[in-house]
Amino acid sequence: MQQVSTLEKHRKQYQPKVPPSLRQGIAKVKVVEGEPAEPAKDRDVIRKSFPHTYGTPLLSFQSGEAAGAADTGTSGPLRIGVVLSGGQAPGGHNVIAGLFDSVKAIHPQSQIFGFLGGPGGLEKGKYEAITAEKMDQYRNTGGFDIIGSGRTKLETPDQFDRCIEVIKSLELNAVVIIGGDDSNTNAAILAEYLKAKGLSTSVIGVPKTIDGDLKNTHIPVSFGFDTAVKTYAELIGNIARDAGSAKKYWHFIKLMGRSASHIALEAGLQTRANITLVSEEVEKLDLSLDQIVEDIARVISARAETGKNYGVVLIPEGLIEFIPSMKKLIGRLNDLLAQKESEFSKLQSVDAKIAAMASWLPADLAGTFTSLPQNIQLQLLLDRDPHGNVQVSLIDTEALLAELVGRKLKAATGFKGKFSSQRHFFGYEGRAAAPTNFDADYCYSLGCVAAILVRSGRTGYMASIRNVSKGVDQWSAGGIPITMMFNMETRHGHLKPVIQKALVDLEGPAFKALVASRKTWEVEDAFIYPGPIQYFGPSEVCDAITKTLELEQG
Ligand code: FBP
Repeated sequence: MQQVSTLEKHRKQYQPKVPPSLRQGIAKVKVVEGEPAEPAKDRDVIRKSFPHTYGTPLLSFQSGEAAGAADTGTSGPLRIGVVLSGGQAPGGHNVIAGLFDSVKAIHPQSQIFGFLGGPGGLEKGKYEAITAEKMDQYRNTGGFDIIGSGRTKLETPDQFDRCIEVIKSLELNAVVIIGGDDSNTNAAILAEYLKAKGLSTSVIGVPKTIDGDLKNTHIPVSFGFDTAVKTYAELIGNIARDAGSAKKYWHFIKLMGRSASHIALEAGLQTRANITLVSEEVEKLDLSLDQIVEDIARVISARAETGKNYGVVLIPEGLIEFIPSMKKLIGRLNDLLAQKESEFSKLQSVDAKIAAMASWLPADLAGTFTSLPQNIQLQLLLDRDPHGNVQVSLIDTEALLAELVGRKLKAATGFKGKFSSQRHFFGYEGRAAAPTNFDADYCYSLGCVAAILVRSGRTGYMASIRNVSKGVDQWSAGGIPITMMFNMETRHGHLKPVIQKALVDLEGPAFKALVASRKTWEVEDAFIYPGPIQYFGPSEVCDAITKTLELEQG
């Protein structure tokens, strides 16, 4: 028997709360069809690419006498394969638990097969049947370790054909893909492919990612964001206390979140750090690296004037890609790394790699590249991820900024304060944390929704819970056709239908709330110390939602 902490032991007993439409049991749920749903733009081309799954209706769930007869759909045992795709996000195990409990309620002989190590497990037919005993070990726990995750991208017909073999051999009614925007895009493509091949197997997506960038009118938030950001906010609050106690360090903290700055923005709102950088604003204002450094130095000097030689700077992980000159540089490096792959891989020394790249770059970009510290140059040359993205989590932006700010202050004649920095990166600390009540409830409910969509024979849908800024009593459940979230974007040189990534909206209430207060937070010690996530206690504490959700949906 695996040893668990006392908290984990008690937490396993937690029964997640579900929306009213799911409370009377799965058997009572009626699936109500709304209007056929279409994307906001690029309709013709998306319709042509998805002839079998385009234009399906929005779905909402009801139950109780007013709803009328329940939609029983398939009544026999269901066989469902489940995939955890991409980076960990707190609550993934609860999605599987909701799915597991619901399919067992539909029919006790139903089975869930977990594909091991992400989408690659589906392609290779590596799976494990999930037993009740196994499921119980993972309820309300963080991580994706029940079956593991991976970043294999399923997108080619060959890969889909291999998936079909596995689907047929396991006689699956459905595949549930728990992933971010790219994985859900590929879920919709797989759904279309299976239908085109005459298979009745459903493909259902579940919105996951701590980054918070998979959201739209129908998906208020991706799961995991709530827990991850609360974990970071606790750590930032602790650091702010230390900074204010020791009064000798400026803390440069990089926060995970890939391209979007939702995590940094939310953490800034929760803790009132002195500076919260938002990549989307940097891009809009066309700021150079030097201007960002100048602005941080301005705040440090202003605080030094009042004797405060300490503070906290929050830096979104993807910042570097949003600085226009750096973005241009990274884009060109991506092309060169692909074009000159064999030549580049033969170079042994660091100096040779950097020199070769500098010689291949056009003069203006070579200038930007060579002005960077060597460790950053090297980090920009690291392998790309399977989706072709720079692995921004591997670039030490916090060290880069701290160093450049230090240099600037040293050169500034008027600076009379002291500057000493500490650098941190918070990312993995929050991705596998035990889910908050919000994520535990939200994820379990999403799993139940996925099961109902499968029972009702739907495909190409994303499970959705709305109205989540209100208490669970007001949550509403349903399904959203994934194709309605599509737009056409250029990926690897080709126009493709993809789910649009939701970046921080500079006209949105969350960013405006930061702008309204940031001048005060820069100079004053206005820190808030959120403290650790609480699982037991007053609902105001345990069921609190994020500021972003409160402001955007409240
Ligand atoms: P997903 O988009 O797959 O949810 O990934 C989230 C994330 O944690 C990003 O914030 C981060 O940039 C990336 O994964 C790190 O990737 P890796 O796990 O490969 O280090």
